[in-house]
Amino acid sequence: MATCEHAAAAGGQTAPMRFEENSLSEVKRVIAVLSGKGGVGKSLVTGSLAVELARGGAKVGILDADITGPSIPRMFGMGGRHAHGLGNLLLPEISASGIKVMSSNLLLQNETDPVLWRGPVIAGAIKQFWSDTSWGPLDYLLVDMPPGTGDVALTVFQSLPVDGIVVVTSPQDLVSMIVAKAVNMADKMSVPVLGVVENMSYVQCPDCGRAIEIFGESKLDEVAAGYGLKVLDRLPIDPALAAACDAGTLETELASGTLPLALAACRAVEAHEVEAPGEAPAADAE
Ligand SMILES: Nc1ncnc2c1ncn2[C@@H]1O[C@H](COP(=O)(O)OP(=O)(O)OP(=O)(O)O)[C@@H](O)[C@H]1O
Ligand SMILES: [Mg+2]
Ligand SMILES: [Zn+2]
Repeated sequence: MATCEHAAAAGGQTAPMRFEENSLSEVKRVIAVLSGKGGVGKSLVTGSLAVELARGGAKVGILDADITGPSIPRMFGMGGRHAHGLGNLLLPEISASGIKVMSSNLLLQNETDPVLWRGPVIAGAIKQFWSDTSWGPLDYLLVDMPPGTGDVALTVFQSLPVDGIVVVTSPQDLVSMIVAKAVNMADKMSVPVLGVVENMSYVQCPDCGRAIEIFGESKLDEVAAGYGLKVLDRLPIDPALAAACDAGTLETELASGTLPLALAACRAVEAHEVEAPGEAPAADAE
């Protein structure tokens, strides 16, 4: 039986069950955006990469795996919208520029309802967002991960055919620890880390344009080099960007070329082979 590189992730021990893709979805690349902790800008990076990929003509979806803290729909002006069904499948909502989004936020009665679901239900939601969602043909499905490297992240990596990971850090982070955690998780799952984006890296002086590193000199280069990782991009603190996310206008407001290296890294990911239905990763990869 043919095995893909994901099969190797099973590592010969208990093979995790891969969630099945449905017949209406044809997702070529799955890229997860991960960070060691919350609030560093994963969702912003996920949304921005989606916008840039879509602007380049790619078919793009975002699976909002942050089930208890979903923030993608709002960023795309979908606050208050509800996902519809088609037979047994859910249909993602589609943004103005054609980006497909599935999020727990689109399944709640009221946008402000707290999501109090527990672990198994959360894993079930991730499964729904993959197996029971009609994504159609997609060049890229970006997965906005919940904060940290805990159970939900593990579920995503074990259950979806993730092709690459973009790690997001901020200068206030204990960068080395966070990069280590992300790298360990990626290693265990045999998923390549495409590189690291440092968000809120500096502030640009409005007068002279000079970059002011308000959190001190970044240690990211050193740390990344220690793990053989690429530093992709550094994003400044930009109040206009935060305002656009809040107002749901990221698609129109995002400046082109905001994350050039991360974008290139996503584009360099090769399409994975579609797994035949029921073809879970083999326990003993050859
Ligand atoms: N470079 C930036 N400049 C200004 N504001 C930013 C920047 N990056 C993120 N923000 C703002 O900071 C907040 C947190 O960002 P975001 O939601 O993307 O982080 P996150 O890592 O996804 O958080 P969570 O862990 O809660 O999911 C948001 O309000 C966002 O608009
Ligand atoms: Mg988020
Ligand atoms: Zn200045």
